[in-house]
Amino acid sequence: MMVYHMGNIVINVSGDLNEFNTNCAMNIMEQINKKPDSVVGFATGSTPEGVYKKLVELYRSGRIDFEHVKAFNLDEYYPIKRDNPQSYYSYMQKHLYSQVNFNPANINIQNGEAEDPRAECAEYEKKIKMAGNLDYQVLGIGSNGHIGFNEPDDRFPGKTHLVALNEKTISDNSRFFNSAEEVPKTALTMGIKTIMSAKKILFMATGAKKAAIVKEALVGDITPKVPASVLQLHTNVIVVLDGEAAADILPLLENT
Ligand code: GLP
Repeated sequence: MMVYHMGNIVINVSGDLNEFNTNCAMNIMEQINKKPDSVVGFATGSTPEGVYKKLVELYRSGRIDFEHVKAFNLDEYYPIKRDNPQSYYSYMQKHLYSQVNFNPANINIQNGEAEDPRAECAEYEKKIKMAGNLDYQVLGIGSNGHIGFNEPDDRFPGKTHLVALNEKTISDNSRFFNSAEEVPKTALTMGIKTIMSAKKILFMATGAKKAAIVKEALVGDITPKVPASVLQLHTNVIVVLDGEAAADILPLLENT
């Protein structure tokens, strides 16, 4: 593992996927061991799957305790039934929540079945506030630069909101569904303000397909056209990449 510093941002480049998963899981574990009742935002997607697997292993070996952790999911499709295997509710249950000792009362995820999505978003923000605000946010990146489901736009969206997914996201995420038609066209996502309010952010990316967007996000202009670029303004971000996702940014880091 190599560690680089770029302004406020710490960039950790792992040798392989196993090391990447371990590095991310250890960072989450450190946070929870330091503050057992941490308010943690969790992300979905392929990237964190192996990370959650490591967390489950760490839990089974008695090195981490989720009993007092308050979990808030980053996003959820809308509309979607909770029991749809592609809902983020199902994803989180499968990969993490049902595998460790969370108190079910501490698990929060936007309700994809809500009748009034706007009221659901306002309620979600209230819950985050009442829990004491996010201590730690786990984040991946979409190939178009989105974080959560904050799509490229003319402005940075604020709080949790209903969003229309763009074509790139629908086609990227169609791999989990039978067809692109089945991918919900809207979603409920924490906004950029919600994400940026987290005291610490773990920003993860793997694979060659993410190399260009990772570079753009971390050293390009700060613009809502690349939502992840806003992270350059956060004062406590740790970036964990595998070698492939780091390929484009690495030459710049090695010269610093
Ligand atoms: C989805 C999620 C994002 C995630 C992105 C990348 O669109 N809403 O939170 O970061 O996919 O996913 P993957 O890790 O599968 O590339």
